Amino acid sequence: MSTHVIRHIGELITNDPSVGDGSNVGRIKDAALIVDEARVLWSGYDRDAPAADESIDVEGAAVIPGFVDSHTHVIFAGERSDEFEARMAGVAYDGGGIARTVAATRSTDRATLRDQSLKRVHDLGAGGVTTFEVKSGYELTLSGEERLVELASELSEEVTYLGAHVVPEEFRDDRDGYVALVAGAMLDACAPRARWADVFCDRGAFDVDEARVILASARKKGLGLRLHANQLADIGAISLAIEMDCASVDHCTHVTNEDLEALGSSSTVATLLPGAEFSTRSPYPSARRFLDAGVCVALATDCNPGTSYVTSMAFVIALGVREMGMSVDEALWASTRGGATALRRSDVGHLGVGARADFCVLDAPRVAHLAYRPGSRVVARTYRGER
Ligand code: NIG
Ligand code: FE
Repeated sequence: MSTHVIRHIGELITNDPSVGDGSNVGRIKDAALIVDEARVLWSGYDRDAPAADESIDVEGAAVIPGFVDSHTHVIFAGERSDEFEARMAGVAYDGGGIARTVAATRSTDRATLRDQSLKRVHDLGAGGVTTFEVKSGYELTLSGEERLVELASELSEEVTYLGAHVVPEEFRDDRDGYVALVAGAMLDACAPRARWADVFCDRGAFDVDEARVILASARKKGLGLRLHANQLADIGAISLAIEMDCASVDHCTHVTNEDLEALGSSSTVATLLPGAEFSTRSPYPSARRFLDAGVCVALATDCNPGTSYVTSMAFVIALGVREMGMSVDEALWASTRGGATALRRSDVGHLGVGARADFCVLDAPRVAHLAYRPGSRVVARTYRGER
């Protein structure tokens, strides 16, 4: 393998607290970074940089770890901009539109679905995402969910089985039958290609008891657990996530102080998804409350056609900083190492020695530009190490 030195970095964020200024984000000014095709080999001051086979001069630009987007639904067909417009005019989101995406996805052939999903994957990558999770959940039949999980496994190694998105129309009078299918034959079909299982545990979706049954079965099949919790109402879903040792509890728009205290002493990451509050015109959860309670926070796009058609992690960072009480460093950490922690990954989300060589060069001298210049193309180039 050949080595590459990235020189004249104005501000390097490593997320390795053992290097740099002693902060959580391991910031080094006037830095250099050395990688081979796969891994990080060295970081430090530019003046101390050893020689490498190739030298890339970034002329004072900031460099950050590639974003880890730990919550997406990028595989779907169709769009629901009419619902977005209605919400902007005052209509509340209740999850009912999921059925429209289910109908559109079921009737789309695999090649078309793949092409449409790949466009969104491309957008994520262009904005600096180097690792992303992807959920099933828009077919809600055994063969359909199997098809989505299989397609997802072509796009990412972080595949989540979300047969428990909502109860589909054909099971309206037989909820128990659907829960049994999701926790039984559908799970059996999807588990071989999935790493995670997730349940939308909320008002209008699945309740805590149903979610517990599904998560317990998924764990028996060897899947890791995640939970969509309390986006629309506090139904007690956050305690369930902690009880089940979910890697991540996502949304948490409605959260009590008791939840925060319990999360702070758990190994469950709170993944906040401000694109959903933006697109449903809902109050943002205060990330500050979570951080002050010692909770590990991740930020993710939740890219989906209903509540967050967002593929830009920079936009999510801007919302975290502008609307949720995070500092730039906290929002950047949450979008990189926080996302990695939510996926229980230690090889991505940072640029410590041995990490994957996944990083972004910004068109900016300081990382604050990610929040300071919303809507502009701040991520100039993205590098993803060989797998
Ligand atoms: O994460 N909350 C559940 N699922 C998605 C929304 C799905 C949709 O409306 O299509 C979410 O917000
Ligand atoms: Fe989601």
